[in-house]
Order: sequence, then C-alpha cells, then structure tokens
Amino acid sequence: MSASGAALLAISDLHVGFPENRAAVEGLRPRTEGDWLLVAGDVAERLDAFESTLRLLGERFAKVIWAPGNHELWTTPGDPGLRGEERYRRLVQICRRLGVLTPEDPYAIWTGEGGPAAVVPLFLLYDYSFRPSGTTRAQALDLARGQGVVCRDEFLLHPEPYPSREAWCRARVRESEERLESIDPGLPTVLVNHFPLLRAPTRVLRHQALAQWCGTEQTADWHLRFRAAAVVYGHLHIPGTSWHDGVRFEEVSLGYPHERRPHHRAGRLLRQLLPPPRREWSR
Ligand SMILES: [Fe+2]
Ligand SMILES: [Fe+2]
Repeated sequence: MSASGAALLAISDLHVGFPENRAAVEGLRPRTEGDWLLVAGDVAERLDAFESTLRLLGERFAKVIWAPGNHELWTTPGDPGLRGEERYRRLVQICRRLGVLTPEDPYAIWTGEGGPAAVVPLFLLYDYSFRPSGTTRAQALDLARGQGVVCRDEFLLHPEPYPSREAWCRARVRESEERLESIDPGLPTVLVNHFPLLRAPTRVLRHQALAQWCGTEQTADWHLRFRAAAVVYGHLHIPGTSWHDGVRFEEVSLGYPHERRPHHRAGRLLRQLLPPPRREWSR
C-alpha cells in the first residue's frame, strides 16, 4: 500500500546533456515518501548520463518506471557502439541494476489514491504512418527534407536486427499488445509511451512533416481497448493536457532549455497522474 498522500507523477524529455536540464533534474524531489515517478523517455543520449540520472531519481522516489525515447536509442560517437535492439537491451540492463522498471518487466500496480491501476511502460517506436495523408514514405521524407526538418533518427537510430524502424515498431506493437491483453480486464491502466498513442496531439506541430517520426496508427484505440485511466507521453516538447474519448492524455516533457513553459519556470516540473489532479493544466 502506498503512503498516504502519495501520488503517481510523470516527466519526460529530460535531455540532461544540457547543463540547465541536469540542474533541473537534480532539483526534482518527491512530495511524499510514497511517490512514484514515470519517466517517459529522452533522458539522455549517453549511457553514463542515462545511468547517473536514473540512479539519482531511483534513490529519491519510491518507484521509478522508464519507457525509452528515441534519444536513448541513438548510436553516437564516443558511446559504446551498440545499435538497435542490442542498445535497448543494454538500457534495460542498466535499469534493472538500479531497480528501475522497464517495458520488459512485470507491470507494477499503483494501489495508492486513484488506483488500483496497472502502470504500463511501452516501447513501440513509430512506423511513419503519421505522415501527411496521401503521401508515400519517400514523398513524406522528401517533404521533410525540403523543410529542413528530417529527424536525426534517420542517421542515428538503427533498427538492427530488424530490417527497418517500422519493422521494429510492428514487432514491438504485437508483443506489447499480447502483454496488455493479459492484464486483468477489471484493472484500469496508465499507459506510458514516449510517442503519443494517437495522431491528434501531433496536429499542433508547426511542421506537419515531423509527425511521421511521432507514433503509429496501430495504437489509435489502445486508450479505450486497454482501459486507460490516463495516457502519458512526451517527445513533442509541447507539454499539456488533452482529452480523447474521455481519456486524459498528458504530454509531460521538460524539453530543451529554450522551450521552458510558464509552469516549468514556476517549478512545477512533475505532472500528477493519480490521483487525478483537481485542476487540470492547460497548455
Ligand atoms: Fe525529446
Ligand atoms: Fe523524443
């Protein structure tokens, strides 16, 4: 049972390679000793920074649950040259050493106020199906190239041993679906994924060509199908709350230093998932 007053909190896109972000993360504290923290990806590009950040959070929060972002999966110079699935497995190994839960672990059940709910970290990636309608994969990539907004994943996020990022995505979706189906159907869920499960939140992107790197149509009904009490995501760096089919979606990113929002500047870096907050934040 969680300590009284404990909450399920979330943040993403810590990008601790920026000193300002590192300092912000060092200032994060739970409000009660029973608080859990969901970290929805893009902690860091380097494995050592990833590890030291999750160690710090793991020492402070009663439980930390991580879902990978695209930046953790980048193979960059100066970091061990692991690619694709192998790199993901290394990240999982680091988390296990620290006692941080990953998409490969049994789902933790939040039994505090607002629960019970199964907390489900997901690793699904994207399959380019959020590309502008009526375009082929090649046309959508050309469009992004023309606007100078090609995602760096194209050069740094390798899908090995899968033939492509979309093939890796398909495999992850299938595997995750099976696990979600095995959850007690009487139990609501909190779904945690780096990318939005729905296309709708990407409509606010200034460059729509960027949406092709932001998720997959394959998860469009997951918030209903898997009884989500709330859905957590990041990646867009456009924090805010939105409602879809009566389900609360929370974009919880800290983002880059130049993207700080008024609520960040006021020191509210953590979003509360459960119990549902009385006053919802607006963008
Ligand atoms: Fe990010
Ligand atoms: Fe991201």
